[in-house]
Amino acid sequence: MEFTEVVRNRYSCKKYDGRKLEASKLEAILEAGRLAPTAKNLQEQHIYVLQSEEALAKVDKATPCRYGAPVVLAVAYDSQNVFTYPGGRYDSGAEDATIVATHLMLAAANEGVDSCWLNFFDPGLLAQDLGLPDHEVIVMLLDLGYAAAGTGPLANHASRKPVSETVTYL
Ligand SMILES: Cc1cc2nc3c(=O)[nH]c(=O)nc-3n(C[C@H](O)[C@H](O)[C@H](O)COP(=O)(O)O)c2cc1C
Repeated sequence: MEFTEVVRNRYSCKKYDGRKLEASKLEAILEAGRLAPTAKNLQEQHIYVLQSEEALAKVDKATPCRYGAPVVLAVAYDSQNVFTYPGGRYDSGAEDATIVATHLMLAAANEGVDSCWLNFFDPGLLAQDLGLPDHEVIVMLLDLGYAAAGTGPLANHASRKPVSETVTYL
């Protein structure tokens, strides 16, 4: 698919039909995440593919927003392997994981797979429940699957501020 088409077609899917995701599509999505840039090329991301009954039950305990997706990706980063900004106040962990997550989300759209980015969950509690090491921080969850018949973008999908409101040329 053309990149502009991918960006235009993607929307947050809030109801899935329960169909399984093909392994080849999941692999293509994960490969796009692997190719994402990270600060100093640290590649501190760790992606958990949550698809077993047990793992999905843990997702459902953490958030009401799985919407029946057969696969949920939890994108985490290793807090012991981040780039610290000059000044020492910020590091690249969440930044890098978010770039990876964006690659995953757009790659899903490119594969014809619907998705929804989630942050309505307690990352610490979910990490504990999934048994992640203490130094890994979950940044977001990505529902993946196929939209249920009759569903589509919410009304606010088409509502975007004009460039003139969000971009300043200096
Ligand atoms: C950072 C972020 C967090 C989000 N968290 C949730 C969430 O927890 N639950 C949910 O249903 N949708 C969530 N969404 C989806 C947004 O509600 C949706 O992207 C937004 O309303 C725009 O809709 P669109 O993606 O269809 O254009 C999130 C989106 C982003 C970018």
